[in-house]
Amino acid sequence: MIEFANVSKVFNGGTKAVNDVSFKVKEGEIFVLIGPSGCGKTTTLKMINRLIDSSEGTIRVHNENIQDMNIKKLRWNIGYVLQQIALFPHMTIKENIAVVPELIKWPQEKIDKRVDELLEMVGLDPGTYRDRKPDELSGGQQQRIGVVRALAGDPDIILMDEPFSALDPISREQLQEDIKKLQEEIKKTVVFVTHDIEEALKLGHHICLMKDGKVVQIGAPAELLENPADEFVKEFLGDRKDPWAEKVSSLLPDEAPAEHTHTPASKVSSEATVREALEQLKHSSENSLAVYEGETYKGDVGYKEITLYLERNQSTLKGGSSL
Ligand SMILES: Nc1ncnc2c1ncn2[C@@H]1O[C@H](COP(=O)(O)OP(=O)(O)OP(=O)(O)O)[C@@H](O)[C@H]1O
Ligand SMILES: [Mg+2]
Repeated sequence: MIEFANVSKVFNGGTKAVNDVSFKVKEGEIFVLIGPSGCGKTTTLKMINRLIDSSEGTIRVHNENIQDMNIKKLRWNIGYVLQQIALFPHMTIKENIAVVPELIKWPQEKIDKRVDELLEMVGLDPGTYRDRKPDELSGGQQQRIGVVRALAGDPDIILMDEPFSALDPISREQLQEDIKKLQEEIKKTVVFVTHDIEEALKLGHHICLMKDGKVVQIGAPAELLENPADEFVKEFLGDRKDPWAEKVSSLLPDEAPAEHTHTPASKVSSEATVREALEQLKHSSENSLAVYEGETYKGDVGYKEITLYLERNQSTLKGGSSL
């Protein structure tokens, strides 16, 4: 879908902002670019719609080298949410959203319908907000407009550069949910820049961690958590653990266990992970497993304990199996 092959960018003055970067973004996924300030995220993103041209390497979109494509067509097919909100202040919300549909000359009726549909999608009543100016909206509402504006022309690809960074935690959480739902519904390919690891783990199907213009590691959230490539990745992820990889013994209730009466088939080692225990449960006719440390019975762990545990750890990490 989007493919970088050995791409570099050297700015005038010699800064190598992006250094030999290669990755593939699959159709219909959220691909997160993350890394410390100045590591080259925005530069990488802007090379996709040629707001910045690469110095070396090849970028392909739909298997076509973007250098060979008509630049206007390329951009119309790519929605872009900027790092700073940039609504046109003198234009109404409707006009702001309709910029690309107007450019690609959709009939007025189709544009009107699309604007209302998009406003509803992010929970803003079209009748109330359509004809307002941006400064008559809260920061969070403006940011929502910035997001849906990128969707207006129905592009295949959406680039988002830290779209929620200026928001308070609650609006941010809300918009993350919106984007996740939206992407699941409309299956757009999204390249999402952030330097917030929680956001990356929550939204990304794949995460590309960058440092000093280079890719350090690419993988699904669970892969990064389970197999960080080096100390930098580990540090960046913090002491966050994959809840699915936790030992099943940590889920045992506090009180001392009663005598075990289960059949031997439903035994599990206290060293097994939550993921392994769940797999075993699925193949068992029982609702719980007897946890053994060596020969010693430690207690039962069943669907109930696992569900409660995962809810506590808000484990929606992709890569984990679901109940
Ligand atoms: N137009 C430019 N001319 C020269 N150097 C630039 C230009 N744009 C960016 N840079 C440099 O390239 C490097 C990468 O910048 P970039 O904006 O891609 O970083 P970023 O990862 O998006 O950072 P942030 O998280 O702060 O937004 C930085 O060292 C920056 O100073
Ligand atoms: Mg940036």
